[in-house]
Amino acid sequence: MTAAQIFDLHNTVALVTGASSGLGVRFAETLAENGAAVVLVARRADRLAAVQSRIEKSGGRAVAVEADVRDRTAIQHAFDVAEKAFGPVTILVNNAGVAHSGRAVELSEEEWRRVLSTDLDAVFYCAQEAARRMLAAGKGGAIVNIASVLGFGVAKGVIAYATAKAAVIHLTKALALELAFKGIRVNAIAPGWIVTDLNRDYLAGEQGAALKREIPMGRFGEERDLDGPLLLLVSDAGRFVTGTTIVADGGQMVAL
Ligand SMILES: NC(=O)c1ccc[n+]([C@@H]2O[C@H](COP(=O)([O-])OP(=O)(O)OC[C@H]3O[C@@H](n4cnc5c(N)ncnc54)[C@H](OP(=O)(O)O)[C@@H]3O)[C@@H](O)[C@H]2O)c1
Repeated sequence: MTAAQIFDLHNTVALVTGASSGLGVRFAETLAENGAAVVLVARRADRLAAVQSRIEKSGGRAVAVEADVRDRTAIQHAFDVAEKAFGPVTILVNNAGVAHSGRAVELSEEEWRRVLSTDLDAVFYCAQEAARRMLAAGKGGAIVNIASVLGFGVAKGVIAYATAKAAVIHLTKALALELAFKGIRVNAIAPGWIVTDLNRDYLAGEQGAALKREIPMGRFGEERDLDGPLLLLVSDAGRFVTGTTIVADGGQMVAL
């Protein structure tokens, strides 16, 4: 088999949450470039429309659905729209996420809930909805959850985010175990620092320079650094891979 054949995504339908910015845009465009019909989900409809238009201009297929991933009804609607446009979803990229910074002792209940409801609860809702529909369709599928190196090691000031991401890594294993027998694979990617809207301010200045010095490869990640891990996990190239988390961090974790 050639690399082009093994990574080919024609005949797949991919739903990407958080496809209005940063990594989610890149994930959606990469999947579309490799043949997937893509369903773009996020709250900012104008941004989704721009991504959809870019994909279509490049010859890909995409549909945009404005939805808050914390709203189960909205998520069900997004899957309905996907099915109507392209058929059953075979790939879910569970990418939508928010971050926060601040000392644990000062974190409000509201902020804890905002982060946990987006970065953990919604990851489960979307994966559960995808899994139910993949089971009903009976064709298997691939779910990729976007975790973080902060799900393995911790830093100061990110207690809610790190807790959610650690749970996502465990959730990935638990779901993989229950779904493997039906050919539904569940994996995660744990990126290190990649400059996006999520952290642009945090990574600027001396604080960013200090963080960069801790990365053995000597640089922050770029969005394209995740193309390979994503394509492996959603394509035939990863057909026997399930329950795992691929770390893509320029060596940051080995140096901890
Ligand atoms: N960048 C990094 O260094 C890094 C490292 C490790 C892990 N990650 C993870 O990678 C994922 C993407 O992050 P990013 O860096 O690309 O950040 P980003 O540019 O801020 O994008 C976050 C995306 O999530 C969407 N989103 C947030 N809350 C949502 C909600 N309630 N409903 C629907 N969509 C929602 C946003 O869309 P709307 O605002 O339009 O809804 C946006 O598209 C996150 O899970 C993040 O934790 C990032």
